[in-house]
Amino acid sequence: MKKQSFTFSSATVDYYFDAAFDQLQKLVSIDRAIILTDENIFAKHKKNFKGWQTIVIPGGEAHKNQSTVDNIIQKLIELGADRKTTLIGVGGGVITDITGYVAGVYMRGLSFGFVPTSILAMVDAAIGGKNGIDVGLYKNMVGLIRQPSFLLYDYALLKTLPKQEWVNGFAEVIKHAAIKDAALFKMLEESKLSDYQKDPATVAKLIQRNALLKTKVVLNDEFEHGERKLLNFGHTVGHAIENLYNIPHGHAISIGMGVACSISEKTVGFKDTARVLQLLKRYGLPPQFDFDKEKAIEMLQKDKKKAGKGIDYIVLKKIGKAEIQTLSMEALVALINEN
Ligand SMILES: NC(=O)c1ccc[n+]([C@@H]2O[C@H](COP(=O)([O-])OP(=O)(O)OC[C@H]3O[C@@H](n4cnc5c(N)ncnc54)[C@H](O)[C@@H]3O)[C@@H](O)[C@H]2O)c1
Ligand SMILES: [Zn+2]
Repeated sequence: MKKQSFTFSSATVDYYFDAAFDQLQKLVSIDRAIILTDENIFAKHKKNFKGWQTIVIPGGEAHKNQSTVDNIIQKLIELGADRKTTLIGVGGGVITDITGYVAGVYMRGLSFGFVPTSILAMVDAAIGGKNGIDVGLYKNMVGLIRQPSFLLYDYALLKTLPKQEWVNGFAEVIKHAAIKDAALFKMLEESKLSDYQKDPATVAKLIQRNALLKTKVVLNDEFEHGERKLLNFGHTVGHAIENLYNIPHGHAISIGMGVACSISEKTVGFKDTARVLQLLKRYGLPPQFDFDKEKAIEMLQKDKKKAGKGIDYIVLKKIGKAEIQTLSMEALVALINEN
């Protein structure tokens, strides 16, 4: 188990790469911890949960809402959770987001940690301290920024991850490469999904590289005044499409990245749209989709990222280099319509 620690504004987070689930016992005392997980993960990894007090919720984005949170809080009360309890989220991004949120509000704050189980959670959702829930169609409308105490990476958990979820997670990997890491982009172009699925050492390296990439961005700008916004590449239109068509997050942001590339061409002269679309396709992601522009625009006008003066839209200057373009809503609407 390899430990690396990073200090954010409010807390230091210990990352345990190359760890095993069993080692959780070394990080928290089993009688002071409660695990939160979903039914899929619980069913596939029952042995891991033996001896741990565990709250199991139904899987999927549809349950990332206040009513699930209320049920969890009720269970925490029944289990006698108090301020000394550590809440551990074992799951994908839905579980890590809910865990961080519940831990932030229950008794005004418990300490918490994550064992991410999906590629998406390992490279993205578990990192950075953003957590929260959806409200109706609006993603991540309610939440807070608060860092976990630890992240434990056990790549063996990925053995049961459905192929579709591998694909989903690679959308964020490709995003990271596109905005910050041209060498990673090239590496991805030269390999394919099954290379990573087959080889634990390769996927371990990929996950660490991506986890550290995101961590560095968050360390520079935890509260998203500048650099952290780059991580929203593909997410402005992506979120709107995700909500409207109820498609997986990775697919939605893949389409969002496609739109963002063509907007990048028009605004900053980006020249490599074809390469980005090709790479998304290579990893089973949809680069384009004939979505209802009017509805998507209506949706994104209500997006929380809308600033008073305009939208901080993320464009690519070149592969590995993103920048913020502050566009008026009218300009963005025109660009989307031209697309
Ligand atoms: N907080 C952040 O910074 C941040 C960043 C990116 C995404 N997110 C959030 O993350 C969520 C998406 O994450 P996700 O794709 O991991 O979703 P998820 O948690 O719904 O997991 C996807 C599916 O895979 C299953 N699963 C996960 N790990 C498994 C495993 N090891 N074996 C078998 N099945 C497994 C889950 O049960 C679920 O059905 C969204 O809600 C998104 O808003 C948050
Ligand atoms: Zn995302």
